[in-house]
Amino acid sequence: MSDPQERGAWSSKIGFILAGAGSAVGLGAIWRFPYYTGENGGAIFTLAFLICCFFIGYPVMIAELTLGRNTQKNPVGMFKKLAKGGGWKWLGGLCILSGFTIFAWYSIIAGWVVGYLYKTAIGTFSEVRDANMISSMFDQFSASGVTVSSLHALIILMTAFVVYRGVKSGIELLSKLLMPLLFLLLILLAIRSITLEGAADGLKFYLYPDFSKVSGMMILKAMGQALFSLSLGMGTMITYGSYLSKKENIPVSAAWITFFELLVCILAGLVIMPAVSAMGQSYTEGPDLIFKVLPSIFGQMPGGYYFGVGFFVLVIIAALTSTVSILEVPVAYFVDEKHWSRKKAVIFVGFIAYLIGTPAALAHGASDFWSNLAGIKGGFFTIISTVFGDISLSIGAFFIAIFVGWLWGVEKATTEIKSEENGITVSEFPIKKYWSFLIKFVAPVTIAIVFGYTMWKTFIGL
Ligand code: PHE
Repeated sequence: MSDPQERGAWSSKIGFILAGAGSAVGLGAIWRFPYYTGENGGAIFTLAFLICCFFIGYPVMIAELTLGRNTQKNPVGMFKKLAKGGGWKWLGGLCILSGFTIFAWYSIIAGWVVGYLYKTAIGTFSEVRDANMISSMFDQFSASGVTVSSLHALIILMTAFVVYRGVKSGIELLSKLLMPLLFLLLILLAIRSITLEGAADGLKFYLYPDFSKVSGMMILKAMGQALFSLSLGMGTMITYGSYLSKKENIPVSAAWITFFELLVCILAGLVIMPAVSAMGQSYTEGPDLIFKVLPSIFGQMPGGYYFGVGFFVLVIIAALTSTVSILEVPVAYFVDEKHWSRKKAVIFVGFIAYLIGTPAALAHGASDFWSNLAGIKGGFFTIISTVFGDISLSIGAFFIAIFVGWLWGVEKATTEIKSEENGITVSEFPIKKYWSFLIKFVAPVTIAIVFGYTMWKTFIGL
């Protein structure tokens, strides 16, 4: 006998895991993880990243989803409802601000991917074999302010269109079909990359930890990357959790999302690191890294043209399912709390994000001022993507952990996770003890130590 309710629950569970994974899997895994790994010492960074995912990311994801499902609200509305007295409003505000700013710089990189799709499709790289030439082609590309700014606008418009029209389910359906393709392609590319001549060095860099590279900043970046790539610390998972049905098992869904994300990160590293050494490029290239290495990999495999085009298309889709989830946070805020129309909210946030993003778009060579701001490589881009991308997410995750662990309390959270009503438990929660310990102690204490130590060292300099 068919039970419609049960079938409904099952399919919505898959739908939710896909939406969550769609938010998580994006440029964070494919573009940012490889370049952070390159800049921060290779395998040791990956190790710190994995530890942060398990001990901070996973428990915070459960916490965020639980807060969202319990209140059915955006981050600001959620704190209003659960924290009487308004003392936590600022944290909701920080989530919204992170949403704006991350959207602003993230869409620049997504724009680069569109540019590279175009270049690949018209055969720009088909004839070029020289790795240094490929590298300088990117420098030229990223320094062209008009192109980069136009592509930035294009991504903002595409995302705004999706969020406005609410065709999210369409995009999710698409990502459902295309995600497996992305995995497959990454696996093939990794095989090609590992078998390139000169790949051994990169593999070693990626797989054998060098403990002399441990530093506060490295761990802060690993922590920031763990939160960023799992879409945590700014309320995306609170907002996504608010659409979740009581029947769904939060810890299991969160585990799947984390698993998919980690898989893509690890594979992306396996594609990029060996290729960096094989092409004689530098691990510490920064945000340019994948753009300088990938065209060479495509150039050295049979059917590389098609792999290249396919790859960039898939990355754009992965990026869009993430930008949609980032934009959704400030938009949900304006719609729920300020009673704006969805259209007005989308136009406003998109426009402001474009303005904030413009100096960052010009910080890769187009403008000397923005490119070298404060004497930092990558200038304004590096600054906002670190402040809103590592630091703000760490602050957000810290307070979310404190809030759930100590104020709202693990007991209330557990009742929500188990969906207990009238003595009936919908979802078992066997890892309750483990999770409570992580969310009350391990996550906040680790974040506070790493954050406090790094800020102290950077600004006070002892
Ligand atoms: N997790 C996304 C990625 O890795 C980025 C993101 C960050 C999405 C924060 C939502 C919130 O691409």
